[in-house]
Amino acid sequence: MKGLILSGGKGTRLYPLTFTSAKQLIPVANKPILFRVIEAIRDAGITDIGIVVGDTAREIKAAVGKGNRWGIQVTYIHQEQPLGLAHAVKVSQDFLEDERFVMFLGDNVIQGGISGLVEQFAASDWNSQIVLTRVAHPEQYGVAELDEDGRIVRLVEKPKQPPSDLALVGIYMFDHHVHEAVDNITPSWRGELEITDAIQWLVEHDYQVYPYIHRGWWIDTGAPTAMLEANSLVLEELTPKIEGYVDRDSEVDSRVTIQKGAEIINSVIRGPTIIGERTRIVNSYVGPFTSIYHDVVIEDSEIERAIVLEHSLIRDIPARIQDSLIGRHVNLTRSPIKPKAYKLTLGDHSQVGIL
Ligand code: DAU
Repeated sequence: MKGLILSGGKGTRLYPLTFTSAKQLIPVANKPILFRVIEAIRDAGITDIGIVVGDTAREIKAAVGKGNRWGIQVTYIHQEQPLGLAHAVKVSQDFLEDERFVMFLGDNVIQGGISGLVEQFAASDWNSQIVLTRVAHPEQYGVAELDEDGRIVRLVEKPKQPPSDLALVGIYMFDHHVHEAVDNITPSWRGELEITDAIQWLVEHDYQVYPYIHRGWWIDTGAPTAMLEANSLVLEELTPKIEGYVDRDSEVDSRVTIQKGAEIINSVIRGPTIIGERTRIVNSYVGPFTSIYHDVVIEDSEIERAIVLEHSLIRDIPARIQDSLIGRHVNLTRSPIKPKAYKLTLGDHSQVGIL
């Protein structure tokens, strides 16, 4: 069986964090989402993995490489434009050949991995299996309708009136019949070749499509609030480890991970939280559900439920920073220079809430 990860697209919804980076590379609990996806596929015993890349190909290749680190073999597949998930399958046909495969969206984080799903599909003669989970707002997703025997009857992409609350999680199992399906569908109202339509085509042509109901948490990290939510959920599952230095004046509770080379000086760190490599926290409070990435400095400040990316500096901030996403190389400091004013350099689509 092969694996196909979709990591193309532009990631516009996470601007400005994704100006210089693919959204799939944004770390959740200090590990890029894409690495979490790779590990989930590898842990299910699949080592031949194709990654569909678009505008951000260079960064993704630089981060993932050939896959040796995970004991897998990576093939990159270029998709000129993000013309839809089914289009991504289309451009991957040479890589996939006639093998059965799992397709996994590179911006999804799910609890518990996919070993059970892969085993079930491998042992069956089904043509496709799709992962579904109950959600509060099905209209934001692909939605499935099942019959009394639990088989898929109908799938609709982001319907105004959802037929059920079962959303399609971005994980799909296919055999080679999906290639026939993607060749027979036409673009949707949003101009994309939808994988949902390809699966609907399989259902209508009497192929065996079964659901796999996922009961743990699942997060599509497409929006900034979802990033913080995903970060909190993953942090809660992290096994804490102290590899850095904590001085005697600091208070670090049992659910905190301190990575190599990090230093905690005269500070309070409340878990679940992770502090990245070579990061310095001095005279500060880092509250629960926070991921501070590598090479960050936080001094004389308080921060809680946040993600801070690498090489940023937060110093001497009078109010607590909360529910915040802070990008790379950000300088957030108090300035003694007059006039006394907020002096901001913010990227496009930035959001700032001032006291
Ligand atoms: O997250 C689950 C949802 O994912 C499903 O419920 C929907 O049925 C499914 O269509 C999909 O919807 P989204 O609108 O959220 O997909 P998005 O455009 O965000 O793309 C998901 C991933 O696939 C993302 O990592 C980028 C990548 N991608 C996307 C497109 C459109 C590609 O690699 N190529 C593409 O052409």
